[in-house]
Amino acid sequence: MQSLAVNLHTHSYSIHTGRGLSGQVRSEANQLQTKGHKVAVVTDANIVRTQNSWLLDAFGNIPTLILPPGETTKSFAHLQSCCEFFAEHKLDRNSAVFAFGGGVIGDLTGFAAAVFLRGISFYQIPTTLLAMVDSSVGGKTGINIPAGKNLVGAFQQPKAVFADVNLLNSLPEREFSAGMAEVIKHGMLADSALFEILASADRLHPDHPDMAGIIRRNCSIKASIVQADERETAKDGGRALLNLGHTFGHAIEAVAGYGTLLHGEAVAIGLLLATKLSVALQLVDHSNIARVEHVLSRYNLPIRLPSPLSLEELMLSMTRDKKVRSGTLRFVGLRALGEACTIDSVNPNLVRDLWLESGAVSPH
Ligand SMILES: NC(=O)c1ccc[n+]([C@@H]2O[C@H](COP(=O)([O-])OP(=O)(O)OC[C@H]3O[C@@H](n4cnc5c(N)ncnc54)[C@H](O)[C@@H]3O)[C@@H](O)[C@H]2O)c1
Repeated sequence: MQSLAVNLHTHSYSIHTGRGLSGQVRSEANQLQTKGHKVAVVTDANIVRTQNSWLLDAFGNIPTLILPPGETTKSFAHLQSCCEFFAEHKLDRNSAVFAFGGGVIGDLTGFAAAVFLRGISFYQIPTTLLAMVDSSVGGKTGINIPAGKNLVGAFQQPKAVFADVNLLNSLPEREFSAGMAEVIKHGMLADSALFEILASADRLHPDHPDMAGIIRRNCSIKASIVQADERETAKDGGRALLNLGHTFGHAIEAVAGYGTLLHGEAVAIGLLLATKLSVALQLVDHSNIARVEHVLSRYNLPIRLPSPLSLEELMLSMTRDKKVRSGTLRFVGLRALGEACTIDSVNPNLVRDLWLESGAVSPH
């Protein structure tokens, strides 16, 4: 197991990565219980089905709330289920909850931990690639509402993250690819050498000997960005750069309906759109479009909308995104492959053209 520190003043924590970490998680939970702290676990039904022995090995008979899988679980209804479960098991201010799952379980459980008793401790035990390289790091938690994704939430840093690469063995291939979209994003925004590895070295898979190292490299990219701008308040750049591809991606998810495309798949389409936007604004050379398309296709990720979506709805959804500042659309673009920048005041007609090129439709 290797550990990486996320330095955030009063709430710093470690990200532990490696293979076979259920014993380490068990001893963390045991230590809490030995000190008299109550603990609970939140997970989803797919994980219980596929990783039951890991779950039992790490958590034994610790009370476990099993939620339905999928994006729609990130809702007020399931926030309530979590809080009621914590109350039923008499969790108090010294208690801790373990989020054992993908980004959905991590975001929901972290938010429930932030609001239950005005805040209790939580641990992230990510079980998807996306959660290992992205959502479990950085402390953003929340749920979706019909008006948009993640519109309700809180910053709540975990006590620690344990990323056991072996858990990826049961992850469906499509979900693994969706996680690769965030890995590709990190390469595009901050690490050109990582992007080159993704473009040219062996295709990564859960058993690949470099997998743990790649996950660590991604956590380190995200951690250093979060350390510099924890609450995304930097005027330019900063944590907002992690949203590369997301202004487009979130609009696709909202208009197509949550769960139609996986989050990482929507982000993949968004990454290519962000590259095309950067080319149109003459920030990067046209050849980058083919390079990004190549890497996305290598991991079976979509590069255009699989079925037509309404242009007007996509444009409307973008204006509702959290990343809108003072009413103007804000994008993340590329200054080079491996270096991102924030872009304000983009001409909406350019964005419309990019959507149409990607398969959006307009009645006019
Ligand atoms: N908080 C953040 O900073 C942040 C960053 C990126 C994404 N997100 C959020 O993360 C969510 C997407 O996360 P995700 O892609 O992990 O989706 P997910 O949590 O829905 O998991 C994907 C699917 O895989 C199943 N699964 C999980 N682990 C498994 C395993 N080991 N074996 C077999 N099946 C398994 C789940 O049941 C689910 O069906 C989105 O809601 C997105 O908004 C948050």
